[in-house]
Amino acid sequence: MTETKIKPVPTLPDAQTVTEVEHYTDRLFRFRCTRPQSLRFRSGEFVMIGLLDDNGKPLLRAYSIASPSWDEELEFYSIKVPDGPLTSRLQHIEAGDEIILRPKPVGTLVLDALLPGKRLWFFATGTGIAPFASLMRDPDTYERYEQVIMMHTCRTADELEYGRKLVEDLENDPLIGEMVEGKLLYYPSTTRDDFKTKGRITENLKSGKVFADLGLAGDRLDPATDRGMVCGSLAFNLDMKDLLEGYGLGEGANSEPAEYVVEKAFVD
Ligand code: A2P
Repeated sequence: MTETKIKPVPTLPDAQTVTEVEHYTDRLFRFRCTRPQSLRFRSGEFVMIGLLDDNGKPLLRAYSIASPSWDEELEFYSIKVPDGPLTSRLQHIEAGDEIILRPKPVGTLVLDALLPGKRLWFFATGTGIAPFASLMRDPDTYERYEQVIMMHTCRTADELEYGRKLVEDLENDPLIGEMVEGKLLYYPSTTRDDFKTKGRITENLKSGKVFADLGLAGDRLDPATDRGMVCGSLAFNLDMKDLLEGYGLGEGANSEPAEYVVEKAFVD
């Protein structure tokens, strides 16, 4: 007779259950999990999430919440780094598994850190689109601004799929679709692949190409009416800061709203 060993179920601190996992490329995936009833957050904020390491210690990283604040569940969009301490494991999670989620949301990519304006620009590279996946699905975004422009740049077209599908679903959404129509302008581009729009965000802003392609008024950002949110790699964030400051936009914070805010995308 074979003996079935019952594995003890580890009880994680602040455990949440994974409800859905979707892989896009060998470098990118998204997953959804249950949301603690007490968790309130502002769209654009991040939390610490993770798993237990081999020694039973929590291994946590900052992850932007990609779902909007009205969603019953939470969504995250992640990179997979083969030898990354957390993502090398996290990429193998499946529905039903548990993750750790510390329910203390923080961050500066929130609408409250910006002064009122007319146009709101979201600038993201790679997984930096995650906080904007939340903000793009938040009705508040469209109540506060007349136009919302989502610029997202990745190396290859397959890396844009998460954002593309999200915008498509948003446009077809029976509730938010109407709000978004004509207001949300999506501008994806690639830098190392054949795609309808090419080039780095910084280049497409400097050349005025994005203004021409989308039929926007003007050919540069105007501190009187334009607001920006930046999320990507460190180099991208620094270049964007220089560019936005050059246009006369100042950096805002929760305590002192201004014309733009910036945050580094999660990197393992
Ligand atoms: P590029 O291919 O020209 O480096 P990564 O995968 O390295 O994080 O990059 C994601 C995207 O961000 C790529 O399309 C990359 O373009 C672009 N990128 C990287 N650094 C910068 C930067 N300093 N300014 C603008 N875009 C950048």
